[in-house]
Amino acid sequence: MALADNEVETTGLVGWIDRRFPLTSTWKKHVSEYYAPKNFNFWYFFGSLALLVLVLQIVTGIFLVMNYKPDATLAFASVEYIMREVPWGWLIRYMHSTGASMFFVVVYLHMFRGLMYGSYRKPRELVWIFGCAIFLCLMAEAFFGYLLPWGQMSFWGAQVIVNLFSAIPFIGPDLSLWIRGDYVVSDVTLNRFFAFHVIAIPLVLIGLVVAHLVALHEVGSNNPDGIEIKAKKDANGIPIDGIPFHPYYSVHDFMGVCVFLFIFSAIIFFAPEMGGYFLEANNFVPANPLQTPPEIAPVWYFTAFYAMLRATTDPFKIVLMVVIGLLGVFALLRARGKWRLALPALAIAVIVFMALTESKFWGVVVMGTAVVSLFFLPWLDRSPVKSIRYRPFFHKVFYGIFVFAFLLLGYLGTRPPSPAATLIAQICALIYFAFFLGMPFWTPRGRFKQPPERVRFKSH
Ligand code: HEM
Repeated sequence: MALADNEVETTGLVGWIDRRFPLTSTWKKHVSEYYAPKNFNFWYFFGSLALLVLVLQIVTGIFLVMNYKPDATLAFASVEYIMREVPWGWLIRYMHSTGASMFFVVVYLHMFRGLMYGSYRKPRELVWIFGCAIFLCLMAEAFFGYLLPWGQMSFWGAQVIVNLFSAIPFIGPDLSLWIRGDYVVSDVTLNRFFAFHVIAIPLVLIGLVVAHLVALHEVGSNNPDGIEIKAKKDANGIPIDGIPFHPYYSVHDFMGVCVFLFIFSAIIFFAPEMGGYFLEANNFVPANPLQTPPEIAPVWYFTAFYAMLRATTDPFKIVLMVVIGLLGVFALLRARGKWRLALPALAIAVIVFMALTESKFWGVVVMGTAVVSLFFLPWLDRSPVKSIRYRPFFHKVFYGIFVFAFLLLGYLGTRPPSPAATLIAQICALIYFAFFLGMPFWTPRGRFKQPPERVRFKSH
């Protein structure tokens, strides 16, 4: 009997499985016959590294749960027990705590690669959107996990963040009570955060990662030149600039994994606390609801967003109101049709609402908008080319300023507030939003270079 295109002829055990389950065809579709552009560079390591860290976090997490006690009277001591008494417990715990930070290092670099090469542009919008949802889940996962050791920072960090919800007009106080399940962060909160950290969010995360990769393999990978390799195929329908993922990129990624594991091990064995950035000193003190630590700062991966929250003071709220007012005037002058009146009316409504509500609430809005803006990137960027390589020089300068502002925000978020630091954070927050929300205006402008017909590739 003739085989259909997507069927494979195999014998033995694999043949037996193939007649019942699409094993060989799935392997071919997603691995040995997935044609990836031949010009990938080191920026393409971080997707597979994120996958590796995800697996590491799940495996080490399972072993931690075997000895951890999600009970406010026992949690702190059970973590100390893991560190001191459980054979290799210290290694498992440090792998998990270091893994959390390395997850964010890898994911931030992975996102930045997408930003540089325009990997979020058509036809990869859904790959990007699934990625942004993964980023949100990752933040939730890290936040819930941080309460579990029940140290001072666990307790007070959760207290501060859950209290933010109480700033939401009308529903805020009830909402924060509902999230905590108590009037303060307590055993009830610990139990529900535990449930979210060990099962609910990881399930969603795994589902999203699968969706992310299925969407990517449907459209094919982008590359540093930002040109579509599927546009030029040979007689067999294979992209001429594509090479099979396996063995070429499996070997390439294996090298990335080796380098990563070197760095990862060095941190675990020589600097697991990373000077207080990966594990905060105050979290080695058991949670004490009667004593607030002198400084409450989140872990480094949240600090850029935390700095934006703190920067939203009363005067900054007025600056935001002025900016929204100017956007309303701009819409009145430039928009057409029904938008011409609707947008200025919306601006006036937002300004009035802002005047009536406290700046703490707008801090939460600013922080949330900073993350949510990422979802809209595919439609904000209007540049005629994808990759930064072929964009005008001033685009590169804008990217540089944006990265600098984001890193500076991250640094400021780790420091105690001061008037000068708040002013700098406010300027950086404005740069962050101007970069993304201004994209429809600045990305189509300037002199673009013509991208090449075929990907640029130097054999080595
Ligand atoms: C658990 C977290 C994540 C995992 C395991 C993951 C995994 C992967 C893998 C294996 C690839 C293919 C290899 C590569 O291009 O590097 C990929 C591509 C991609 N990812 Fe992720 N990813 C994660 C998070 C994110 C996030 C947070 C974003 C953005 C918000 C994102 C956006 C993208 C994009 C745009 C591509 C296509 C890149 C291209 O073709 O140039 N990913 N991801």
